[in-house]
Amino acid sequence: MATILVVDDDDAFREGLAETLSDLGHRVVQAASGEAALERLHGGHAVDCVFLDFRLPGLDGLGVLERLRGDAALTAVPVVMLTAHATSDNTIGAMRLGAFDHLTKPVGRSDIAALLERIFSASRLPAATSADDAPFAEEPLSDGPLLLGVSEAMRTVQKQLGRAATTDATVLITGETGTGKEVAARVLHEASSYREGPFVAVNCAAIPHELLESELFGHGKGAFTGAVTERAGRIVEANRGTLFLDEIGDMPPAMQAKLLRVLQEKCVTPLGTSRTVPIDVRVVAATHRDLEAMVDAGGFRQDLLYRLNVIPLHLPPLRERIADILPLAEHFLAAATKSARRAMHLSVAAQRRLVGHTWPGNVRELKNAIERVSSLAPGPTITGDDLAFLGGRPTAAEPALPADFADLSLAEAVERVERAMIVRALALANGNRAEAARRLAISRQSLYTKMASLGLA
Ligand SMILES: Nc1ncnc2c1ncn2[C@@H]1O[C@H](COP(=O)(O)OP(=O)(O)OP(=O)(O)O)[C@@H](O)[C@H]1O
Ligand SMILES: [Mg+2]
Repeated sequence: MATILVVDDDDAFREGLAETLSDLGHRVVQAASGEAALERLHGGHAVDCVFLDFRLPGLDGLGVLERLRGDAALTAVPVVMLTAHATSDNTIGAMRLGAFDHLTKPVGRSDIAALLERIFSASRLPAATSADDAPFAEEPLSDGPLLLGVSEAMRTVQKQLGRAATTDATVLITGETGTGKEVAARVLHEASSYREGPFVAVNCAAIPHELLESELFGHGKGAFTGAVTERAGRIVEANRGTLFLDEIGDMPPAMQAKLLRVLQEKCVTPLGTSRTVPIDVRVVAATHRDLEAMVDAGGFRQDLLYRLNVIPLHLPPLRERIADILPLAEHFLAAATKSARRAMHLSVAAQRRLVGHTWPGNVRELKNAIERVSSLAPGPTITGDDLAFLGGRPTAAEPALPADFADLSLAEAVERVERAMIVRALALANGNRAEAARRLAISRQSLYTKMASLGLA
C-alpha cells in the first residue's frame, strides 16, 4: 500500500480519483490547492507519489512540481501531472521538470492501475535534476519553435522530448520527409540546458563531400589549397549549444569515423593542425533513411549508429496520426491569414478532404497546401473544391487507421475521437461551450451530455 497525494481544485474529480486509488488499495491524501499540497508534503507526510493538476488557483501545478524538484527531500517523489487540455508546451514542460507522466483527463481506472504499476515497479530513472542545477526556465516555450500535435503518437514524442531535454545524451531523430525532425531538434534545444548556447545546423546531404570535413572540423591556415585563413568549423561553433547533424545518413564513411572520434573524445582537431579543441556540445542527428538497413548494407558504421542512437525519437508520418491534421491545418491557416488580416475557415468538405489525403510530404506538404489555399481561395470559407489541387476524389482513398487505434475496441476509438474533438473545439473556442458546439455541429445540449459522459464537464 502506498500513500498517494491527489492535488486538484475540482472537488468532484479529486474525490473520484481518490476513490479509485483507495479501491486499488492505497492510502490517499487530498489537497485542493498547490499551497495546501506543499504544506502537506512539508508537514512530514511521507508520500510515495503525487497526482498533480496543472491548472490550480494560486500556485499552479508546474510551480508545485518545480518546488518539489528543488527540495532535496522531495525531489525523488514521482509526480503524475493531470490536465484537461494537453498542449505540446505543457507536456514538454512537465516532462523536463521530471514528471513521471502526463495524463489527460478523464483518466480511466485501468490507466491508473497500469500507471501505478509502472511507478512502483519500474526501476526509477535517475533523478533528472538536482537542487542546485537551478533548473529550467520559467519562461514558456511558446515563443520558440512549436511541435504541435494532439495525437497519442505526438503526445508520446512530446514526453520523450521533455525527458531527453534533461540529459545531454545524443538524440537520433528519424521520420519521413516533412514530419518535423528539424522542429523537434529546435524544440529540444530550447528546452535543454544548452539553450543559452547556439543551435548550429549542418545538412550533411547539402554540403559537397570534399567540403564537409573542413566545414565540420575546421582547418588551419594553409591546410589545403584555398585555405587562406583558419576556420573554427561548425562543431566548435556549436560549443555549449546544440549541433544538429541533419541527413546524417548521407555522411560519407570517412567522415563517419572522424565524427565518432570527436563524439568519443569530446575534442576536435582542425584539418592541417595538431591542435585539439575541447568541446561541450549536445549532438542531435536526424535522418529519413533507415540507418539499421544501411549498417547491414555497409553504408553506415554500426559503432556510430550506437553512439548517436542513445535516445531514439521517431516522428510518425502524418497519415498515421490523423488526429493532428485539422489542428495543424487550423494553426497554419491562422498564421497565414494573420498577416493578411482576413479570417478564413475550413468548410466541412475541406476538412474531409484534408483528413482523407495521405500526405506523402507530411506536415510540410500540409503547411504549403494551407498557405496556397489561403492566398487563392476566393471567399472566407475554404471549400472542398479549393483543395482540388491535392488530387484524388473527395471521398476517395480510405484513410489509414491511426496507429494508436489499432488495438482499441470500436467504442474506445469512438470515445477517444469524441474526446479529442471536444477538447479541441473547446480550446479553439476559448472554453466557450456554445461556440464549441457550433464548431462540432451539434446542439449545446448534446455537447453537455457528451462532456458529462466523458468526464469533461
Ligand atoms: N508538429 C509540428 N508543429 C508545427 N509545425 C510543424 C510540425 N511538424 C512540422 N512542422 C512544420 O513543417 C515543416 C517541415 O518540418 P521540418 O523541416 O522540421 O521537417 P523534417 O522532418 O526536417 O523534413 P526533411 O526530412 O524534409 O528535412 C516546417 O515548416 C515545420 O515548421
Ligand atoms: Mg529537415
